[in-house]
Amino acid sequence: MHSGISDWPLPDVDDSLIVDFDIFDVKPVDGDLHAGYHKLHSGPDIFYTPKNGGYWVLTRADDIYDVMRDHERFSNHGVALMREHEGVRFIPGEIDPPIHTAFRKVLNPQTSPKRVREFEDSSRNLCIKLVEELKDQGGCEFRSSISEVMPIYNFLFFMSLPVEHAEKLVPPAAVIARERDLDAFARAMEEIRGYIEDRIDERLTDPRDDFISHVLAAEIEGRPIAREEAVVTVLNVMLGGLDTVTGSMGFFFNYLARHPAIRRKLVDEPGMIPEAIEELLRRHGIFNTGRLVKQDCEHKGVTFRKNDLVLISGTLHNLDDRKFSDPLKVDFDRKEGAHLTFGVGIHRCLGSNIARAQLRILLEEWLKRIPDFAIAPGKDVKVQSGRTNAVVELPLIW
Ligand code: HEM
Repeated sequence: MHSGISDWPLPDVDDSLIVDFDIFDVKPVDGDLHAGYHKLHSGPDIFYTPKNGGYWVLTRADDIYDVMRDHERFSNHGVALMREHEGVRFIPGEIDPPIHTAFRKVLNPQTSPKRVREFEDSSRNLCIKLVEELKDQGGCEFRSSISEVMPIYNFLFFMSLPVEHAEKLVPPAAVIARERDLDAFARAMEEIRGYIEDRIDERLTDPRDDFISHVLAAEIEGRPIAREEAVVTVLNVMLGGLDTVTGSMGFFFNYLARHPAIRRKLVDEPGMIPEAIEELLRRHGIFNTGRLVKQDCEHKGVTFRKNDLVLISGTLHNLDDRKFSDPLKVDFDRKEGAHLTFGVGIHRCLGSNIARAQLRILLEEWLKRIPDFAIAPGKDVKVQSGRTNAVVELPLIW
């Protein structure tokens, strides 16, 4: 799924630029994965790692920002950090302009704040139900109880699909998120793809006023959208909104469990939650994406060759002390500019409004009901780096 190992020859790189770095194995510092990422800022601004097939890593905020916005020289065909892969190419995540522009024109209105408000009540009611069920239990494993479950329901609300379908989707989605075995991963992908194809076929014969019907009615560059394009678009929207939201919820609650003073601020002043979320998102970047170099080019004296891969890490951007002072500190009064947790440029996250709504609702409803909680003594929190950083296990007590 993620190894991307290929026999691409090591580019002719100066030894001083080679660092043995593995994006799938960033070592946490005292349990803090982001502190582990931040250690890279004491090394070179740009280095090459031979791991996982080999790719360049940019560590500094300015460079990450520049490359993310430069789709002339850097292609999204490299999003998966693989030069070529056999799986489907997701739309819009793995395509370039001009066709990317045509798809985003269709998709952007579907995730506007207004559209998100339409299902906010359902989202809040689900969250209240989940937290009420947990409240008297005195503790939980946060991921399986909350952070892995909420995003699936929210996908169903957003797509106007029956909420009972969560039973079909939760198991394969969990496999996709956690499984390192390629066969198990492929089977789960097929299951989810089959589910989406069924919904698409239903709407091809019986169009409705919902996201999928809207996508199926789209014209792309003057022609009707192809069925397969619709399938990979819905797949991208679904999968783009699972691990990422799960991870953000996990890192937020891991942090709040260990920082009672910060937690207390949010309990006492729930009105500050929307702004606080931005700082928590900055501190806990989730996403590490890739770009494929389209043509030989130079950046800060380093030569990238056509078909080299570059790791673009929002996580590293947000922890760069040249941009954010004392970057590991959560400071709700920061005025240092935007984080890149949702990316920037033409591929900026399509679902940021949906993600923010889920995080806000969870903080509001949880802190009202369970204001004090901590990591369960004697139990380990498990975190994992990767293309999406994850909190794999988060045992909480209250
Ligand atoms: C906290 C949660 C989330 C984070 C941190 C996140 C992060 C990102 C980032 C960084 C990108 C840009 C990737 C790149 O430039 O290569 C992206 C793209 C995307 N995200 Fe999200 N995302 C989140 C939630 C969601 C949700 C809820 C959805 C569902 C609607 C979603 C759907 C997408 C899609 C479809 C793209 C591709 C956009 C394009 O390439 O034009 N994301 N996301």
